[in-house]
Amino acid sequence: MTLQDHRVPRIICHRGASGYAPENTLAAMRKAAELGGRWVEFDAKLTGDNHAILFHDDDLDRTTDGHGKVAATDWETIRRLDAGSWFGGAFHGEPVPTLSETIAELARLGLGANVEIKPCPGREEETGHMVAALLREEWPDSLPAPLLSSFSAVSLAAARRVAPGLPRAFLVSRIPADWRDRVRDLDCGAIHTSHRHLTADLVADLKEAGLAVRVYTVNDRALGGALFAWGVDGVFTDFADRLLAM
Ligand code: G3P
Ligand code: MG
Repeated sequence: MTLQDHRVPRIICHRGASGYAPENTLAAMRKAAELGGRWVEFDAKLTGDNHAILFHDDDLDRTTDGHGKVAATDWETIRRLDAGSWFGGAFHGEPVPTLSETIAELARLGLGANVEIKPCPGREEETGHMVAALLREEWPDSLPAPLLSSFSAVSLAAARRVAPGLPRAFLVSRIPADWRDRVRDLDCGAIHTSHRHLTADLVADLKEAGLAVRVYTVNDRALGGALFAWGVDGVFTDFADRLLAM
């Protein structure tokens, strides 16, 4: 029986409230709660010495004052970086959070989460394994179970082996022709995809197959309205207040 999660709300704060605070930081999680968000999405990967952190890119340069590959940098170095100033002076010194720190903050805030496993190239297996193991150990009973997703089928399969009881979403930038096989192979109850190539007919097919359909990144109210009219179950947004006001 495929795991479905009917507790996931329609509006999910993408990388936290990343329109208002630096993405994938605790400040972004707090802002999401402040805006009235109930769930956040964030990206989880491993440092060079296997600490699970929240981070989107393979490189440190865009969102911190550090340089080089995340996969080649240890936690002792990453934890000293400023992951806030690139976004705005008010966030100077905001650190890169560990997954453990984030879980504790989400528990405090009462926020559910879609944990996107975002492995650095070549680290798909261990990232899926370690992120799922940490969630299995540390996720609090007070929150709805986290929803796992990944562009990497290898990571999702590894996560499934470690934590088969956690719901999974198949994540693709464009729905592939063989989506039925791929969703079945990973026993996913949902598909997460970009709005760019999605059509009303595709949404109807996905829904007909019993899948929840969630769409990124939707920052425009009219686009959100059109997607919900097609039967989409949820959207990821950087600006939760715009969509929550619908
Ligand atoms: O999980 C949905 C979305 O976050 C996937 O794309 O690049 O923003 O992580 P990206
Ligand atoms: Mg993501």
